[in-house]
Amino acid sequence: MTAPAAPRAARPAEPRAASPIAIEAAAAAARVPVPRDRPRRLRRTAAMRALVRETRLDPSMLVAPLFVRPGQGIREPIGSLPGVSRLSPDEAAAEAQRLASLGVGGIILFGLPSEKDPVGTGAWIEDGIVQEATRRIRSLDLATVLIADTCLCEYTDHGHCGPIMADGSVDNDAAIERLAMAAVSQARAGADIVAPSAMMDGQVAAIRHALDVAGLQDTAIMAYASKTASGFYGPFREAADSAPQFGDRRGYQMDPANGIEALREMRLDVEEGADLLLVKPALPCLDLIAAARAGFDVPVAAYQVSGEYAMIAAAAERGWIDGRRVMTEAVTSIVRAGAGIVLTYAAGDLAGWIAEERDRS
Ligand code: PBG
Repeated sequence: MTAPAAPRAARPAEPRAASPIAIEAAAAAARVPVPRDRPRRLRRTAAMRALVRETRLDPSMLVAPLFVRPGQGIREPIGSLPGVSRLSPDEAAAEAQRLASLGVGGIILFGLPSEKDPVGTGAWIEDGIVQEATRRIRSLDLATVLIADTCLCEYTDHGHCGPIMADGSVDNDAAIERLAMAAVSQARAGADIVAPSAMMDGQVAAIRHALDVAGLQDTAIMAYASKTASGFYGPFREAADSAPQFGDRRGYQMDPANGIEALREMRLDVEEGADLLLVKPALPCLDLIAAARAGFDVPVAAYQVSGEYAMIAAAAERGWIDGRRVMTEAVTSIVRAGAGIVLTYAAGDLAGWIAEERDRS
């Protein structure tokens, strides 16, 4: 019996009479060296790519910002932050529970007080909105870290991060005294970490001192060390109703053009007693995240701020980009740059996607 004929390999069509130019090109191609290094070997299959992946996201490294407002049973969607709502304390507690069950590492609370005044009293009163929500969430005994943003801009009627002096600028030393009061009150309510974000000089030292004097030496400080006067905070200011009523924050937040100054801010905060450093915004500051990671021996967090989130969400809504893919890529890049912790409005979504990927593989 004769073996079936082997299928004949498809042969490229014979070139027609080669032109002198084609002969030239073929001769040049023959001289191209065969690559010795072939990084593509490690990209061949999904399994291979998973094996050599350098950066992996885990829900435990994510922190979800929550906006708390007075009331009960309230979930008020924020137009410029799709998927994010202002929550009354009971709803914030339910959300914290949901995030904890997804394995999200922490939540950070921002307050919308019922009343604002020139000095920001709502930030440090015992029955302040963040304090109330903190107590409520704390009582659930969740396995998630409770962080309180420590600032005054959500509580002042002029929207600046401290009391205003006669010349219209923010009074640094009056601000840090009040920030220290706010931090103590947040820690007493049950915050594991206080996160001063006002960019006042000496705020970390003032808070550390006040916490220690109050017997709260175990409360940690996550310093918004390098925080630029950024246009990316726009949606947050709508969410928190904290836009400055006059002027802007360039007198205290950093010039986005400055990287050396960012390192100085980080060094000062570490010297003043910061337990963690935060860089904000995140994607526009990947160099600063890398510098923070290389330069200091404390955990580095990065805040993917409202504008970063909103841009991705808006483009995804229009079908211009794949929201899940781009959000995952952005947060992965922030971690690759050196952040061990990422504050992101997509924390819950990401945690869900990460779980889905795990189930699939
Ligand atoms: C408070 C504070 C702001 C943000 C975090 N803490 C607003 C600001 O500085 O204007 C912005 C966060 C975001 O945009 O998601 N000072």
